[in-house]
Amino acid sequence: MNEVTKAEIDPRLETPIVVMSCPEDLSEFATPEQQEEMRRIYAQPGIIVVDNVMGEPILTGLREGLSDYRRKFKENFNFGRPETESFKLAYSPAVERITELTRMLFGYDLKDGGTMSYRPLITADEPLHYDTYDVECGQMALMAVLNFDIRPRVWNVGPTFREICRDSAADIEEILKKKKPGESPSVPIRSAGLKGFGPLKAGTPLHRIEFAPGAVWYANPKTISHQIVYGGGAHFQQWNIDVSDCACQACVFEELAVKVPNLRVPAPATAA
Ligand SMILES: [Fe+2]
Ligand SMILES: [Zn+2]
Repeated sequence: MNEVTKAEIDPRLETPIVVMSCPEDLSEFATPEQQEEMRRIYAQPGIIVVDNVMGEPILTGLREGLSDYRRKFKENFNFGRPETESFKLAYSPAVERITELTRMLFGYDLKDGGTMSYRPLITADEPLHYDTYDVECGQMALMAVLNFDIRPRVWNVGPTFREICRDSAADIEEILKKKKPGESPSVPIRSAGLKGFGPLKAGTPLHRIEFAPGAVWYANPKTISHQIVYGGGAHFQQWNIDVSDCACQACVFEELAVKVPNLRVPAPATAA
C-alpha cells in the first residue's frame, strides 16, 4: 500500500516542506546539484520528506515492538528492542537503507548510521518546542525519522529559531533574562509558550504534517519548532555535521543582536 505524506501549509511561516517519492534503487537518487539543493533546503531550515522508503516486510518486522503505552515527558523511548530473529532481520536493513538514503540525498560522507533511537511507544500532544539537547557550535544536527507505525505521525511545525529571534526579540530577551550557564535556551522558551507567553504560545501559525507510514523525513529539531500531535512507532538516526556557516542558537542570537546572559557559558563542573 503506497501512502503519501500530507502537509497543510500556513503561508505566514517560512519553513519550506518538500515531499518526494523514494525509488527502489537509491544509487542515482540525486545528482550533485540536487544534493547541494537538499543541503540548502535543510539548512534554511526546511523539511524534506521521502515517501515509501521502507516496504511492508521491513515495516512489519519493526512493528513487533509497537506498544500502546503512552510515553510521558522525560521517560525512556523504549523498553528495549525486541529480541526476535524477525525483528533483527528488519532492523538492520532499515538502518542501512536510512543511512544510504541520507548519503545519496545529501552527498554527505557518513561514516556510520549515527546515533540511533528506536521509539515504539505513543507520543501525543507535546508542547511546541525546539529540542534541548546540546549540539556544539560549528555543527548542525542532521535528523532522519522513519515512521514505521500503522498510522501517520502528525506534527505541527511552528516558526524557526531565526524567525522568532527576528520577530520576537524583546519577548525572548525577557524570557531568557535569567538564563543559567549551560541551560539550553529551548527550555525557558518552551515553558513560556506553555504559560501563554512569547513566540511559541498557543495561536502561533502552524504547518500541519501527516507523515505517512514508511516515510523518512529530515528536519533540524534545534532550529525548527515542532510538536508531536500524535505518533506511534518511529526510528531516529542523527548525525552532527561540521558546517562552515553555523546557524546554531548561539550564533543566531549574536547575528540578530538578541541579548542573552551566559550565552556560551557552560554549566559549572559539579564539585567533586
Ligand atoms: Fe522534539
Ligand atoms: Zn554556532
